[in-house]
Amino acid sequence: MPKKYLLLTYGCQMNERDSETIAGILEVLGYRPADNKDDVDLVILNTCSVRQTTENRIFGKLGELKQFKRLNPDAVLAVSGCMAQQPGILDKMNRLAPHVDLVLGTHNLHRLQELLARVNSGEKVREVWEHEGEIVEELPAVRGSGIRAYVNIMYGCDNFCSYCIVPYVRGRERSRDPEEIVREVDGLIQRGFKEIMLLGQNVNSYGKGLCAGIGFAGLLRELDGLEGEFRIRYMTSHPKDFSLDIVDAVAGSRHICEHFHLPVQAGSNRVLKRMNRHYNREAYMDLISQVRERVPGASVTTDIIVGFPGEDEADFADTMDLIEKMRFDAAYTFVYSPRAGTPAARLEDAVPPKDKKENLARLMNAQNRISLELNRELEGKTLEVLVEGGSRTNPKTLSGRTRTNKIVLFEGPPELAGRLVDVIITEARTWTLFGSLPPK
Ligand code: 5AD
Ligand code: SF4
Repeated sequence: MPKKYLLLTYGCQMNERDSETIAGILEVLGYRPADNKDDVDLVILNTCSVRQTTENRIFGKLGELKQFKRLNPDAVLAVSGCMAQQPGILDKMNRLAPHVDLVLGTHNLHRLQELLARVNSGEKVREVWEHEGEIVEELPAVRGSGIRAYVNIMYGCDNFCSYCIVPYVRGRERSRDPEEIVREVDGLIQRGFKEIMLLGQNVNSYGKGLCAGIGFAGLLRELDGLEGEFRIRYMTSHPKDFSLDIVDAVAGSRHICEHFHLPVQAGSNRVLKRMNRHYNREAYMDLISQVRERVPGASVTTDIIVGFPGEDEADFADTMDLIEKMRFDAAYTFVYSPRAGTPAARLEDAVPPKDKKENLARLMNAQNRISLELNRELEGKTLEVLVEGGSRTNPKTLSGRTRTNKIVLFEGPPELAGRLVDVIITEARTWTLFGSLPPK
């Protein structure tokens, strides 16, 4: 009987990609995914540390798993990922979750096999590297659906936005060789993957420090030249160095989706400065106008943090004004969460929780109205949809995404999964579009 593993992933696409590597290593070792919790030999929590709420959820889960360990003393409980890299977290874990057998970080994932062997011979292992090592290529991976694939292009982040833990848990920026990336993407396309998501904490810094003399725009152009039926997306970009050359690379491409996710974080120049973002609202708004001018029909989404220390009513009014002016297709909104070790965590002048909550609600209401208004403009249009499969709630309904990254639900045969099809949009809602296949 093969050993069974259960892998729980928290956080962003970067972490989902790491989980594919974890699954790949485990499957090479002969483990198979568990289908029910009863016969699990190994539980891994691949964790995120970007906000306190996620950390609390993870500790909640570890608390639940105490009982599981009691009932299955031979099973291994492991914690990997960003939370494990957080300064001081090992002490907290040893105190609150001493039943965890293995802790490893983001920089030593490739050592999972050896660390597991040590745990299996009875040792309690905590191995977290403070610094990133060389990029390790050719690790095995179990890729999800066969339709969309994540491809790392760079790791780490050197921006040090004052609220953000990522530079501390993911290390310094380093880029993969362009040949490695092109080879991987080409291989995925040959295997039938239809959507490639390029991943990095800050993809527009791609190429810094490489001898190849290539930047992100150059990489996009090279990948766009590959043959086949596929789409390319990328995550995440920082507005400060999102160049017009990148916008033009998207505008002139066949395969790169017309979706720009450019986190603005705040609409007030005073707050942006304290966040250490290196742009102001005027520069940001100018960038978005350029995007819209050069890439007609593009969708633009953003991230916004509410309640950064010292944010007052006038600052928040600037954020509200910015979203009305920018008319984003969607905004992912977060309440500011202090992260130990970041400069912002030392700032005084915390915004009272009640104000944060109220402002978050105002922001979400306004954004939901705008998202719906923009989606309504799509009613009656025919859009290209990559079909991902049956919808979560109704298997007869198919779910897919437009090039602009909007979810579309429509009736159709399950064989369409993995295909690019035209869908007529019949009804728009805030988060979803409904549609139908054109008559034959
Ligand atoms: N508090 C709240 N939101 C945060 N983000 C990053 N760090 C924090 C924090 N400390 C948000 C940012 C980022 C997104 C991935 O998470 O908006 O773009
Ligand atoms: Fe992703 Fe950042 Fe969370 Fe790590 S801390 S999983 S990089 S969002």
